[in-house]
Amino acid sequence: MTAQRKDDHVRLAVEQQRRPGGHNQFDDVRFVHHALAGLDRADVSLATAFAGLSWPVPLYINAMTGGSEMTGAINRDLAIAARETGVPLASGSMSAYFKDPGCAGTFSVLRTENPAGFVLANVNATASVDQARRAVDLIRADALQIHVNTVQETVMPEGDRSFSSWVPGIGKIAAGVEVPVIVKEVGFGLSRETVLLLESLGVRAADLGGRGGTDFGRIENGRREHADYGYLTGWGQSTAACLLDTQDAPIPVLASGGVRTPLDVARALALGASGAGVSGTFLRTLLDDGVTALIARITTWLDQLAALLTLLGARTPAALTHRDLLIHGELRDFCVDRGID
Ligand code: FNR
Repeated sequence: MTAQRKDDHVRLAVEQQRRPGGHNQFDDVRFVHHALAGLDRADVSLATAFAGLSWPVPLYINAMTGGSEMTGAINRDLAIAARETGVPLASGSMSAYFKDPGCAGTFSVLRTENPAGFVLANVNATASVDQARRAVDLIRADALQIHVNTVQETVMPEGDRSFSSWVPGIGKIAAGVEVPVIVKEVGFGLSRETVLLLESLGVRAADLGGRGGTDFGRIENGRREHADYGYLTGWGQSTAACLLDTQDAPIPVLASGGVRTPLDVARALALGASGAGVSGTFLRTLLDDGVTALIARITTWLDQLAALLTLLGARTPAALTHRDLLIHGELRDFCVDRGID
């Protein structure tokens, strides 16, 4: 059952990516152009540091998969792409490993193919401390993601319906594992209030995981016999809105959900993110064009991101923060509604 679900998620997510994307609220974020702000490219560094972690680049491949034969092969290719480009890489949810230790290899390949890379383990908020430690150990993870996905669970035919244990569960895991814990949404966004709560639970960083990219409401609706949750389309906050909402967050934030181009990465950094994560876009490249194409694409993104920082006069990702931004459209309305200056 779990293996089938993992395969369904990959298939349905890639189908979504193959359809042309429409407007995304990153489009409502523009940089003021200063013709003489430019730097020398040689003076730009993409390195980023947050929550005691150091990454060579502010771009990562975010959590996707593992647990079945097909998804093990995908993880192998993602690990190769991460190794060749130096981007950090997150595992998909490792619950399948707790249910069936026989599928361990579909996750451990993330480390065996990428021995020196930065790798994140991934569990849900109902995992025990022991399970969280096993997940970290299996892939010698440098950090642990806990995903929170109440909308997905609600629409998922076989999903969880009990969420009250999640808050204490996150606190126990954060206190019980040796590596920093990052809590992430899966495409509906973390609000300012949620990020404050996470900080009080000992969580070290928040991956805002907003709306605008892969839509797990639609994916799970597509797995139902009757697609009866269609009215939830558009639920949640976009990633750009989440970044604006968490400007004064007490812990560092990462941006994921609907990051489509190096310009979206630059926008996310300028809105305060320490890094930007990509899932669906890179998955589609891998499945449609192969691992060599994915390596080339990530290399191009990093190259272009450095070019954009040069153009914008920012020597580092952190120097881009709050650099003359214009906020338009619905995103501006969101700021007014939430009292954001
Ligand atoms: C995901 N995502 C995800 N997240 C997570 O924390 N654990 C998981 O197991 C999965 N599984 C998964 C499978 C597939 C096929 C995709 C495409 C995505 C969610 C992912 O990490 C990310 O939050 C969302 O996909 C939004 O980012 P994009 O796709 O818009 O870049």
